[in-house]
Amino acid sequence: MFSDGRLCFGGDYNPEQWPASVWAEDVALMRQARVNLVTVGVFAWSRLEPAPGRYTFDWLDEVLDLLHAGGIRVALATPTASPPPWFSAAHPGALPVTADGVRLHHGSRDTYCAAAPAYRTAALRIAGALADRYAHHPALALWHVHNEYGTICHCEHTARAFRRWLADRHGDLAALNDAWVTSFWSQHYSDWAQISTPRATQYLANPGQLLDFRRFWSDTLLAAYREQRDLLHAANPAIPITTNYVLGDWVPVDHARWAAEVDLVAVDHYPSAVDIGAEEQTALVADLARGWARHGNRHRGTTGPTGRASAWLLMESAPNQIHTAGRMHTKEPGRMIRHSLAHVARGSHGAMFFQWRAPTGGAERFHSALVPHAGPDSRVFREATELGAALQQLTEVGGDVEATVAIAVHAPSGWALRHPGLPSQRLDHQQETAAAHRALWHAGHGCDIVLPGDPLDGYRLLVLPALYLVSDATAQWVREYVEGGGHLLATYLSAVADEHARVRLGGYPGALRDVLGVWVEEFHPLAEHDHVRLHGGGTGRIWAESLRLTGAQVIDAYDGGVLDGRPAITRHRTGAGTAWYVSTRPDDDTYRRLLDEVARSAGVTPVCPGAPAGVEAVRRRGDDASWLFLFNHTDSPQQVPARGTDLLTATPVDQVVQLTPGGVAVLREH
Ligand code: GAL
Repeated sequence: MFSDGRLCFGGDYNPEQWPASVWAEDVALMRQARVNLVTVGVFAWSRLEPAPGRYTFDWLDEVLDLLHAGGIRVALATPTASPPPWFSAAHPGALPVTADGVRLHHGSRDTYCAAAPAYRTAALRIAGALADRYAHHPALALWHVHNEYGTICHCEHTARAFRRWLADRHGDLAALNDAWVTSFWSQHYSDWAQISTPRATQYLANPGQLLDFRRFWSDTLLAAYREQRDLLHAANPAIPITTNYVLGDWVPVDHARWAAEVDLVAVDHYPSAVDIGAEEQTALVADLARGWARHGNRHRGTTGPTGRASAWLLMESAPNQIHTAGRMHTKEPGRMIRHSLAHVARGSHGAMFFQWRAPTGGAERFHSALVPHAGPDSRVFREATELGAALQQLTEVGGDVEATVAIAVHAPSGWALRHPGLPSQRLDHQQETAAAHRALWHAGHGCDIVLPGDPLDGYRLLVLPALYLVSDATAQWVREYVEGGGHLLATYLSAVADEHARVRLGGYPGALRDVLGVWVEEFHPLAEHDHVRLHGGGTGRIWAESLRLTGAQVIDAYDGGVLDGRPAITRHRTGAGTAWYVSTRPDDDTYRRLLDEVARSAGVTPVCPGAPAGVEAVRRRGDDASWLFLFNHTDSPQQVPARGTDLLTATPVDQVVQLTPGGVAVLREH
C-alpha cells in the first residue's frame, strides 16, 4: 500500500457516528498509536445522501482533511452495503427475498438485492458522487468498494438474471438438462422461463441447479463490484481498488475468481475458536488470502497470476472480544498482537481492525474497538499502541513465504458438499482443508493454498482435501504432477463427481482411480460420535470406505467392525511420483504424524526444525534476505535455536531466541 514499505495499521473509522468534537481527539489518538490507514464511510450512505441525489459531503471533507493533516491515509469506502431507508421505501422491489419467498425489510444492513436494477443504479450514483469529489484527495490511498459481498436473493430480478447466466453457460436447454440430470424426477426443462432460482421446494433440490446458482450469484456480485470499480478507476487510475472478503462456508462467493479483479486481496478474519484453534485458523486464513492473491491481483509491483509473490491485506479483525458460542470472549493480553503479526508473517501488508472507536448504540455496540468504551486509558488501546510500534519495526520484511506443500481448495467443491442428499451431512471441503492444514501447521511445515490448475513447480507435496468436483482437466493436472515426480495425498470423496456435480461411474474416486491405485466400492459414513479404529493405533471419524487395491500398497488398515483388515490408508508409486489415499478422517494426532511422514518422504523439511511444540515458525524469503517469525503460543517461556537480529527488540540473537509466554520474535536471519 505504502510505497515506502510501511505496513498498514488502522481500521474502520466511523466519524459519522460521532459529533465533530470527537474527530480531533480521534486523529490525535491515531497518531499516538501510529495508525496510518483508516477505512472511512463504509456504512455512511444515509449521512452522505440523506435524500435521493442530495449530497452532504461537508462533514466528510472535514474528516478527510483532518486525517490528511494528521498524516493518516484513507481507504475510502463506497457505502453500498447499507442503503438508506429512503431507498428501501422508494424501491420495495429491491429488498431481498429469501429462498422461502419472504421479502426482508429494512432495519439492519445489506437489505438490497444485488441483481435489482434500482439498487445497482443507486449504488453507482453514490459511488460516482464520491469519485467525483474525492478521487484526487491527497489522503486517499485506496478505494474500498462496498463491504463483504455475500448476501443472496431469490427475487424475480435474480431469477431473470439467473436464466440469462444459464443460457450463457450452457448454450442451450439440452446441455442444461444434461448437466443437471433433469431426467431424474421429471425435471426436464422445455423453456428457459420454467427455470427459477433454487427456492424452497418440497423435498431434495436438484444439485446441478444448486451449484449453478452459487456460481451465478458469485458472478452477479462480482459484476456489481466491477461496475463500481470501473467507475472509480476512471476517476483516478492511480488509486488501487479493493473490496473486503467475508469468509465462511456460507459465503456464495468464489474468492479465487475475484482475485483478478481487485488490486489487493483484502480479507476480514474473526476466528470462531478461542483456544489454539484461533491460531490454527489465523494461519489457514492467511495462507488462503495469499493463495487467492497469487491469482492475479492487479496491484502494481506484485508478481501476478502465477508467480508466488502477491499482495493482500488483513482488512478487519477484532481488537478484543470475539463473539462465539453464544458469548463474547475476551482476548488474552498479547493475543491481538500475535494474531496480527501471524497475518503479517504470511504476507499481509499490515493489520487492520474493526473498528476504531466503540459506538454507544447500534447493533454492534459491544463489538470490540481499538478505543473501547473505557477510552484510551485501557489495556486494548495500550496494546494497539504496542502493535503500531511493532509494525513500524517490520518495514523491511518482504519476499514470499517459504512453502513446499500445496493444498488445493475449490469453492464449488465446498458448495457441492453442502447439498442435500449426500451420503453424510457431515462432509465439508472447508473442514477437510482445515484438518490437513492444521496437521501440517502442527508439524511445522509451511503451506500454500493453490487452485486446481495452478502451476505446481517447487511444491513437493500436493494435498487434495475432499476435492469433490474434479473435471477431466483437473484430473489431468493431478496426473501430470504425480507422473512428473510429485507427491500427492488425496482424501476420501476427492474426484467423485465432475464439474456439474454428476457422479463419475466405474467406482470411486472417479477421475483419480488410476493415479491413486485404489478402487472404492462402498462408502461407510459414520454417525456423529462413531469412530473406526486403525491398525496403527489411531482412529478415523466421519467416514470410512471399503476399498480394493489396484496397484497401491496398504499403509494402515481398519481394525475391527465390518471393515476389519481392509485398507484405510494407501500409497501408490506411479510414474516418477507417489500418491497416498486416506479413506477416513484420521484423528488430529494421527493425521499430524501421517502428514509429517508423507511430507518428509517427499523431501519437505519443517520451517524451523528445532522449534519446540507450540511454537509456530514462518519464514519469508526476499531476493537477498530472509526473515524468521516465531510465535510462542504456549504459557511458558520457550527457546528456539536461531541466529539473526530480532527486529522487534533490535537485539542480536547468537544461538537461541528466548520467547516469553505468548511472545513473538522476528529475526532478520544471517
Ligand atoms: C464484519 C463486518 C463489519 C463488522 C464486523 C463485526 O464482517 O464487515 O462491518 O460487522 O464484521 O465482527
